[in-house]
Amino acid sequence: MGFSVSLDDLLGDEVRRDPYPYYARLHELGEAVALAPTAPYAAVVHGYDAAHRVLRDPVFRVLDADHLDRAGLRWRDHAVIRTLQASMFNAPPDDHARVRQLFGQALTARRVTALEPAILRIADRLLDGLADAGADGRPVDFMAEFALPLPSDVVGELLGVPERDRGWFPSRVRAFDAVLEIGPRSFREIRAANVAAEELTAYFTDLLAVRRAEPRDDLVSALAGIRDERPDQLSETELLANLIVMYNAGFRTTANLFGNGLTLLLARPDALAALRADPRLAPAYVEEILRYEPPVHFAVRYAAQDTEIAGLSIPRGRSVLVLTGAANRDPRRFTDPDSFDPSRPDNRHLAFSAGPHYCVGAALGRAEGRLVLPRLLDRFPALALAAEPGERRHFMLRGHDRLPVRLADPDTDRSAGTVRVDLAKPT
Ligand code: HEM
Repeated sequence: MGFSVSLDDLLGDEVRRDPYPYYARLHELGEAVALAPTAPYAAVVHGYDAAHRVLRDPVFRVLDADHLDRAGLRWRDHAVIRTLQASMFNAPPDDHARVRQLFGQALTARRVTALEPAILRIADRLLDGLADAGADGRPVDFMAEFALPLPSDVVGELLGVPERDRGWFPSRVRAFDAVLEIGPRSFREIRAANVAAEELTAYFTDLLAVRRAEPRDDLVSALAGIRDERPDQLSETELLANLIVMYNAGFRTTANLFGNGLTLLLARPDALAALRADPRLAPAYVEEILRYEPPVHFAVRYAAQDTEIAGLSIPRGRSVLVLTGAANRDPRRFTDPDSFDPSRPDNRHLAFSAGPHYCVGAALGRAEGRLVLPRLLDRFPALALAAEPGERRHFMLRGHDRLPVRLADPDTDRSAGTVRVDLAKPT
């Protein structure tokens, strides 16, 4: 029997839990497949070369306001969509280039290098907290105690969100992000996302006022300064929307890099031991984690004019679902794609997308992974799973909601990863 592709299959339980066998079957069909005319996307694009082209080709655009208007969507009724549309994620090409340039400056490699001491300080503080929470072999949720707070604190540090406020964000970010997933959303989810968008807007409006009165060395102050000096470069709505998406985009993506990376490594003791023995391998490990188990599996683009992709015609105005998670496992591009191999050469995966919307925070996400993973492994030599991790079911922000680990072997005296020496006893 032939294999026909439908969105219902892709969004079914089995594929959500483990999409890779489905991706492998898609690869047997070529680089892209057409969906039924009634489907919300004209095609699924899953081959590496085709996905790479869609993401870079100016004919394919993010779902900007014009597109939503033409589709007759009442998106202005929803604070969450208004925020996304005013942000660089969904900006049309000219607005995007202008805003991206301003925000890109904030995240250059040099700025990220300057953030490294803060990343290490935050990591060490959270590792201490993790050690306390998991003392004497008690199971501890790695996501809640470490993977989520770390990038939240780092992006908070970058933007200038005061430490005391950072605990307020995660539930809002989670509610806001729910609308990014593929497939229909419930009324309740949309309402919660709208409330979150309004609360986040109010928060950043207040923070902007505080920093305008007393600027500091942070991104909120810097961007407020740019906006006030050159108001034609950035509107207040764009400023607010981009601060919100920056916080959101920098947070659960990187948290899932840590969670997905940790389960991958714990299931592969040899790879784990090799990284522990040589932390200089960390950058290659981060790339392979991102290729193999990416936090983001897709992007959507629409055709601004009639075009084609991998032999399929895409009429003007129709959109395509670009499965970057599948492209990362394309056997035409990656040898033995389903094996985890940090030594693979030329590992140019699409976990950060490609083209003009390539992740503006990629250098920061990479730095967090590269600096923090070896520190975590070094601190807890007996780190192990304490129970099955929470199921991954999303294509956007794909990761474990909980990841119970044990930091120390309860039979030894190595809580907090350091060997306790009894000074009363001669050694
Ligand atoms: C491992 C961590 C991360 C992953 C996997 C990731 C992934 C992505 C992906 C796939 C996109 C492109 C979406 C598209 O093409 O439609 C993107 C865009 C973006 N990311 Fe990241 N990201 C990460 C970390 C960060 C961080 C740390 C920040 C900021 C502090 C950030 C901010 C953004 C922003 C603002 C955009 C929109 C860029 C644009 O539209 O021009 N990301 N990210």
